[in-house]
Amino acid sequence: MACRNLLQTRRRLFVFLTQQRDLSSPSLSNFLQSYRPPPASSSQHAPSSFITPNSSSCKASTARVYTEVNLGRPQDYCDYENFELQWGNQDHYEVLRRLGRGRYSEVFEGMNIVNHQSCTIKILKPIKKRKLKREIKVLQTLFGGTNITQLLDIVRDPVSRTPSFIFEYVNNTDSKVLYPRLTDFEIRYYIFQLLKALDFSHSQGIMHRDVKPSNVMIDHEQRKLRLIDWGLAEFYYPNKEYNVRVASRYFKGPELLVGLQQYDYSLDMWSLGCMLAGMIFRMEPFFHGSDNTDQLLRIVQVLGSSELHDYLNKYQIELGEDVNPSIEGQRKKTWSEFQTPTNEHLFNPLVEDLLDGVLRYDHQERLTASEAMMHPYFHPVKKQENLPRPLPLEVGLQLSA
Ligand SMILES: Nc1ncnc2c1ncn2[C@@H]1O[C@H](COP(=O)(O)OP(=O)(O)OP(=O)(O)O)[C@@H](O)[C@H]1O
Ligand SMILES: [Mg+2]
Repeated sequence: MACRNLLQTRRRLFVFLTQQRDLSSPSLSNFLQSYRPPPASSSQHAPSSFITPNSSSCKASTARVYTEVNLGRPQDYCDYENFELQWGNQDHYEVLRRLGRGRYSEVFEGMNIVNHQSCTIKILKPIKKRKLKREIKVLQTLFGGTNITQLLDIVRDPVSRTPSFIFEYVNNTDSKVLYPRLTDFEIRYYIFQLLKALDFSHSQGIMHRDVKPSNVMIDHEQRKLRLIDWGLAEFYYPNKEYNVRVASRYFKGPELLVGLQQYDYSLDMWSLGCMLAGMIFRMEPFFHGSDNTDQLLRIVQVLGSSELHDYLNKYQIELGEDVNPSIEGQRKKTWSEFQTPTNEHLFNPLVEDLLDGVLRYDHQERLTASEAMMHPYFHPVKKQENLPRPLPLEVGLQLSA
């Protein structure tokens, strides 16, 4: 009985607090009246010094898994250019505080005043309609997938026609604060959660193409991870030539840096490998290039020059003129060379083997997301996931009442 009263009091307090917010927080419509989107920031997506090989002469390459999923789908599945958008009601949302800024958007914590649920409002800067439709189509296709951010609504300002996406809210801790504090088990746990999101997306024929810490939201209190920002994601077709100007510099796979356009889902596995190496060795980012040419050099300084040439030869890739001559003569390093007194508790033969499996030049040789999930590095996580979960707080209270 006492517990039921406590629950009712908590609920009343929540409604009271949200009503108080209603008085002070602008509706999304009012907010947009005075909102001036900042100009699109210069970003690592735009290469400053790009290696320009002759990509059309590269040898063909196709994904090892989920190769033909999109070929077997109905025609409208990936036809994002022709699909009709159904806009929701912008007046259902109000803006509470700014959460972050990306190259293509400003993002705010918001409130759905109809159901009193917290949400995230991504107000888009002016972008091409095709890109807008692609992001929506991808998000709708992946809706409900494990650890993938859920698109709850899309709205558009009737006056400025500024579109906004409404997502579930994640109480994220900045990766710069969180990652250095993670234990060995927590790193395994979060990388495993990220692999679940990637495997689902790949199984649906979608490459994310921008995996990096600021696109991975973690609510550490709830042990909840969500892969966000599907703005660069694309549907995969075998032998299709894709734009190599995707992903953020530190997380770009070698295929992008040498101009191999027939890349696939394995690009995301490279980016995940960069995140894992950054977490384990406490180096954020792990490959810290100052431009794209330097980014390739940073990779070669770890994976070696002759191994790069094996890769280039296999796919008949010729590098452009602007390549840094220092990429020659670099020896392959062992992962243990990155061990220091501050990271040695996170380093072990299993993570060494996993890093070997994902941080490979040859994208076809990299572990796929589902193969990586079977790696023994994740055994402790799977063991814990199979244990019965503790009851959520409110259910626990009801049972004990
Ligand atoms: N659901 C969410 N919960 C909490 N914070 C979020 C959420 N979605 C986005 N953010 C914050 O807003 C930032 C920008 O969001 P997002 O990456 O979707 O935008 P973008 O403009 O596409 O970015 P990019 O520059 O990476 O292309 C994120 O890095 C994060 O800090
Ligand atoms: Mg982003």
